[in-house]
Amino acid sequence: MTEAATIEVEVTAIDQVTPLIKHFRLAPVDGGTLPAFSGGSHIIVVMHGAARAHRNPYSVLSPPNRLDAYEIGVRRMEESRGGSHFMHDSVRVGSRLQIAHPVNLFGLDKIARKHVLIAGGIGITPFLAMLEDLYGGPVPYELHYSVRSPEHAAFLVRLRRREGGRVHLYCDSEQQAIDFEALLGNQPLGTHVYVCGPGGMISRVAAVAKDCGWPDSHIHWEQFSAPPVGDAFEVFLARSRISVHVPPDQSLLESIEAAGVEVPYLCRGGVCGFCQTRVLEVDGELLHNDHFLSEAERASGKTIMPCVSRARCRSLLLDL
Ligand code: FES
Repeated sequence: MTEAATIEVEVTAIDQVTPLIKHFRLAPVDGGTLPAFSGGSHIIVVMHGAARAHRNPYSVLSPPNRLDAYEIGVRRMEESRGGSHFMHDSVRVGSRLQIAHPVNLFGLDKIARKHVLIAGGIGITPFLAMLEDLYGGPVPYELHYSVRSPEHAAFLVRLRRREGGRVHLYCDSEQQAIDFEALLGNQPLGTHVYVCGPGGMISRVAAVAKDCGWPDSHIHWEQFSAPPVGDAFEVFLARSRISVHVPPDQSLLESIEAAGVEVPYLCRGGVCGFCQTRVLEVDGELLHNDHFLSEAERASGKTIMPCVSRARCRSLLLDL
């Protein structure tokens, strides 16, 4: 994915939908329509801040049959490296942004006999578009939505108005929790489960589903990790023959891009595998934060996903 492949959009509406989540409508600047997408797709939003560009993935939550604009929901992250704060504090109606074409790494299974959707907090966003694909179709589905308290339940009115009893809400503040064993232990054969939310919720759903005998192919999850902050280090790009400084609050991928070297990417969240890069040498430890590499690949020390992973070292030599 290169910057040339981006589309310029204008922010045409912003709503504060919960104390932490803002809802943005992004329309093409030249009118017309945006590329088609399916429920579960995400886009990368490129934000040009004063000091640096941020490129963050956000699920498209608008109906897939409406291509005059995409809608996204952005949660203000306490530990933001800048992207979510930029969206909340600097983006106004009329602002222009670059977005990448939508990509779906979290699509609905076409031959599932039932769909069980499980959302935690901002993890509701991909399901809003998926529900549009499911609504009125022949395959049964239900949504289980967990939030910290009722005012944090984004888009609940919209969901309940149309989906009614298919939406089950659980509020931590009311001591309500999803009983994963009961939910996943009692589903018809051919059911697929989809989970998007905090890492702990995803791990728990995957573990319970496996204990209940669900095949891996029926368990779907999406979690884009934000690149964590860490110690600064130097990276040398062997083929490009340049050194790049990676500061504490910038990812390895962002630092390499800022130096003018392109690395392929799709998700920028450690999920898709597109940015996988060969490590030629490291005088310390690789800090893997992705959800893509196997334990054996991590242990080999020969590969890294620069979108979310970094190194604790003085220098790292990459095959770029
Ligand atoms: S861009 Fe998807 S794993 Fe890095």
